[in-house]
Amino acid sequence: MESKLKPLELAANPLLLALLNLQNLANAVPQVPCYFIFGDSLSDNGNNNKLVTTAKVNYPPYEIDFPQGPTGRFNNGRTMHDFIVKLLGFEEYMPPFAESEGKNVLNGVNYASGASGILDETGKHRGIRIPLNDQIKNHKTIISRITTLMGNDSATKSHLSQCIYSVQIGSNDYINNYFKPESYDTSNRYAPPEYANVLVQQLSDQLKTLYNSGARKFAVYGLGLIGCTPDARVVHGTKGTHCVDKFNEGSVPFNQRLMPLIDQLNKNLTEAKFTFLNPFGSIAGLVTDIPCCKTGGGGGELCLPNLKPCDNRNKYIFWDGVHPTDAWNEMIAKSAYSTNKPQEAKPFNIQKLALQKIQIHVNPK
Ligand SMILES: *[C@@H]1O[C@H](CO)[C@@H](O)[C@H](O)[C@H]1NC(C)=O
Repeated sequence: MESKLKPLELAANPLLLALLNLQNLANAVPQVPCYFIFGDSLSDNGNNNKLVTTAKVNYPPYEIDFPQGPTGRFNNGRTMHDFIVKLLGFEEYMPPFAESEGKNVLNGVNYASGASGILDETGKHRGIRIPLNDQIKNHKTIISRITTLMGNDSATKSHLSQCIYSVQIGSNDYINNYFKPESYDTSNRYAPPEYANVLVQQLSDQLKTLYNSGARKFAVYGLGLIGCTPDARVVHGTKGTHCVDKFNEGSVPFNQRLMPLIDQLNKNLTEAKFTFLNPFGSIAGLVTDIPCCKTGGGGGELCLPNLKPCDNRNKYIFWDGVHPTDAWNEMIAKSAYSTNKPQEAKPFNIQKLALQKIQIHVNPK
């Protein structure tokens, strides 16, 4: 039977109004049509599960707070990107490339792989991983699938130009390369400032490759203080300070070079919008020095399987020896999305990046 409620009756019926609002929410259109994720274990949501590597986490207690249980995310719940895509209005998280199929690739794909880096060799002592160069190749595979779904190149080009491309990578080029001289020779070949130049130069080429395949909205993340993780502190010692200074001295030049690169790319590639994000600010009131789970798995930094983790997970920054908790990821996602501090997001936060108008030149056939 059809409902014959008049507008006034509708307004006077709070239950109906609530139902209508729910429906609006469910049909809400995301602020961008798609969101692509490139990165390492901070972003991985299952790409390493079937690879031969010590950098995978599809076992309990990982994702103890995630409804589906362990899917391959390196924490107790959601990644920063999981929170950001919800803030952007998506209903679903982005599927890992390894499991992407059908139409879901139109909304975006997550290519991130634990232990991977900007350099191809990074993380090799951990086993198989998908370096950024290969993540970009995987993206080209997805572009062909999108083109098949959309029917033609210019529709694809216009679709891709509106998407956010998130790139958060570089920690492993230090943790699983430069600061592992027993497995890698980069620290013999380069002083920290030179090494940062090498990484940022290569990242610049990789961003341009994405641009050439249609990316126009880029969110590029700086490195957090990699010397302050529980694992770095235990393995390398802190000499009485809170962090391993040598590690942070390595990563600070990376951020110092990445910021001006983003300015240059905005000037040189005028069709595109790039932003630099570094939302790793406030740690007030949180346990910063010890991990929530009992570590010793993987390369020593991951949780051991099947042991009970801490109860008050919302009070911890670190879930395991290097990866932050769901609670921390939520805080930094909110800050990446809406911060107005230029040291955290320059020139745009994610919300403003989403609003940027992109003009593309589609060649008429
Ligand atoms: C931007 O363009 C200038 C001038 O052509 C060039 O020197 C510089 O290397 C370019 N930077 C990037 C990141 O493309």
